[in-house]
Amino acid sequence: MSPNQEESLTRIRRDHEHMLRLIERITGECDQVGVHENCNDCQPTRRHICHGNIEQLIRSFVEATLKHNFLESMLMEHYVPEAHRIAHNQAHLDIARQLKEIRVIFSEDGNCVLAIDGMEKIRQTLIDHFQHYDQHLEGYLKLAETRA
Ligand SMILES: [Fe+2]
Ligand SMILES: [Fe+2]
Repeated sequence: MSPNQEESLTRIRRDHEHMLRLIERITGECDQVGVHENCNDCQPTRRHICHGNIEQLIRSFVEATLKHNFLESMLMEHYVPEAHRIAHNQAHLDIARQLKEIRVIFSEDGNCVLAIDGMEKIRQTLIDHFQHYDQHLEGYLKLAETRA
């Protein structure tokens, strides 16, 4: 496999791990899930700290995910059939929409409980996406190499 393709595959996998780790950190930030339905019911001292952490982590997660999807879209320009490219980019748009919803909900009422709910949903979306779309992309990258 050429250094380029190998590098792309490593990068894709490393990004995926990084994204899932960020989700893990965000959901792990609150130990009151299932106790309170709204951050306002939590102790102000605790709320202040985890709110700041979660906000920062969500920002990093959204940035990392959008950047990653952009990288994949760039790779698809060269190595995949059009049908896959269109469907895969469409799936990336759905992910972007979901990310935006999380940010909007969070910036409107700052309720981390809802944000964490949203993170659980996007975790499942991403796991499905890795399986149904990214695995195919990885296959095309490998195939492109054998043809080169
Ligand atoms: Fe993807
Ligand atoms: Fe991906």
